[in-house]
Amino acid sequence: MEIINRVTRMASVARELRAQGQTIGFVPTMGALHEGHLSLMAKARAMCDKVVASVFVNPTQFGANEDLSRYPHDLARDAELAFTKEVDYIFAPSPEDMYPNGFTSYITVEGLSERLEGASRPGHFRGVATVVAKLFNIVHPHFAFFGRKDAQQVIILKRMVKDLAMDVEIVVGLTVREEDGLALSSRNVYLPADERKAALVLRRALDKCRQLYNGGDRDCARLVLAMRAIIEAEPLARLDYVAITDIANLEQITTIPHLRPTLVSLAVYIGKTRLIDNIVLNGEL
Ligand code: PAJ
Repeated sequence: MEIINRVTRMASVARELRAQGQTIGFVPTMGALHEGHLSLMAKARAMCDKVVASVFVNPTQFGANEDLSRYPHDLARDAELAFTKEVDYIFAPSPEDMYPNGFTSYITVEGLSERLEGASRPGHFRGVATVVAKLFNIVHPHFAFFGRKDAQQVIILKRMVKDLAMDVEIVVGLTVREEDGLALSSRNVYLPADERKAALVLRRALDKCRQLYNGGDRDCARLVLAMRAIIEAEPLARLDYVAITDIANLEQITTIPHLRPTLVSLAVYIGKTRLIDNIVLNGEL
């Protein structure tokens, strides 16, 4: 495994691999790797000749009051974990190399980026789309792997790839969870024991929704109310949003339609830490 820090070096390695006819699988991450990231690397390993994982805490996707400065960094640990999944290259550029002086080009996926997470985190998806597009231009992957945990991110990036005719296929991996159901997240390390326990409300709320849905309830207002009640009953939790939306446009719906994939997503503050989770009814992303 090679660790590459420079954009120019990564681009030339990718060119070389392509010239040799090797398929490139790419797993973009912000580091602080956990089993969720590693499951994407394993998927890439199984599908592609060469696997590139990036570790880059992308400043442009963090809001002014978000956790950029305290986001966990440990490249040596990340590299060891990626090595166990037989990743071939870690690409860990510096912010200065990714955003040199004078950088001024951004990608906005309109509409989709303003809903759900975008409503609470203005500019977030502009940063995500821009960095992912740039990473694609550098790594030039055949396949790029993203987790369903960040469902809106997947939907936006698929839109970007389609709209801009990018030559890459997006592959989606399932959400990896702790045994008790908490979705793995780099932010879980911020949670002290009492908050870690309280964080289970996200999963409990989504389970309740699925249970009501399986029992035949299709009324979104009622499902949302039931989920809200579960979050509000947890003193350490503060609901940011819970929404039931059509997967195609992320618009809120009133009744869950027959056979149309529907995203049930929520964001909850547990203490100061903001966690998200989702389920998909009637299909897949
Ligand atoms: P990061 O939060 O590090 O996540 C990297 C990838 O791992 C994303 O595709 C995310 O959906 C996936 N992932 C995170 N937790 C997961 C889990 N519990 N199960 C399965 N997959 C999981 O998402 C980002 O970084 C950034 O926005 C990025 C795409 C790298 C652009 O900066």
